[in-house]
Amino acid sequence: MNRRKFLHFSALTAPLLTATRSFASGFEAANRPIVISTWDSGMPVNAAAWKVLSAKGSALDAVEAGARHMEDRIDCCVGLGGYPDRDGIVTLDSCIMDHQSNCGAVAGIEKIKHPVSVARKVMEKTPHVILVGAGAQQFAVENGFPLESGELSESAKKAYAEWLKKSEYKPVINIENKKQNGPFAPQFFDDGTLNHDTMGLVAMDMNNDLSGAVTTSGMAFKIHGRVGDSPIIGAGLFVDNEVGAATSSGLGEEVIRICGTHLVVEFMRQGYSPELACKKACERIVKRNLEKAKTLQVGFLALNKKGQYGAYAIQKGFVFSVKSEKENQIHQSKYLV
Ligand code: GLY
Repeated sequence: MNRRKFLHFSALTAPLLTATRSFASGFEAANRPIVISTWDSGMPVNAAAWKVLSAKGSALDAVEAGARHMEDRIDCCVGLGGYPDRDGIVTLDSCIMDHQSNCGAVAGIEKIKHPVSVARKVMEKTPHVILVGAGAQQFAVENGFPLESGELSESAKKAYAEWLKKSEYKPVINIENKKQNGPFAPQFFDDGTLNHDTMGLVAMDMNNDLSGAVTTSGMAFKIHGRVGDSPIIGAGLFVDNEVGAATSSGLGEEVIRICGTHLVVEFMRQGYSPELACKKACERIVKRNLEKAKTLQVGFLALNKKGQYGAYAIQKGFVFSVKSEKENQIHQSKYLV
């Protein structure tokens, strides 16, 4: 082959060779669609999100559907059936974020059943990211969300009456009872009340686009007005469509201090797997104060653009739920302390 012919041949075959090389060097189809969510209560949440994803719907619609499903249930820690603050009022926090970094959130909203959908309206209809308290409620009502009664659920009334006996302001969250029956059994306080918190979920759709949502009633018996990590973009939820998405559960103040989910996504950007990225974020909390970390729980959950997922927690007991074409199950997170 003379030089001219060789150059011609190279020009024709180079793209083919490059494609072959990238295939041989580990290119694999992303595991999508997929949805992952915090806790074992994430199983029905994932099922609601999967209905959207399996019909080729968007990750954004899927995470909203999943979060709404949770808000419809009577649960200690999400929605209007959740435990109240120390004044006996249920206040809800929620946020949502899409693949274009659009995001919206509400914090401390009262008497509104679906804060995640209000958060989405904030994202889509306002130039703002977060609305709080009475303003968030006013915005919700103006946008057609019915104002609910605000009466406590039976389980919340019982838990609040119990708490009032001592009225001890001692934020304890999410350290699972060691007496539980097996790793995936529901987690309870010693007095029998449920001790889960935030529902956070992230999903990737058929278009390889990521979104996430978080919804919670926050820490039980908190000071009225307290806001945790859940509605804070970069703390309770972060999505970067080039890299991945992460959400968190546990003691929100600790997550806010390290901008937890933003940190997890940045670790994934540096090449860490979702599990290692979550582990490094947990280490950041523990490094600040090991003795304090022994008394609290934080769990991170992450998904990357390949559809790989992982979690890590400070304490034993954090579990998460996964739904894809390949699986539909609960996983136990590794932990540090
Ligand atoms: N992670 C929920 C909260 O701290 O409010």
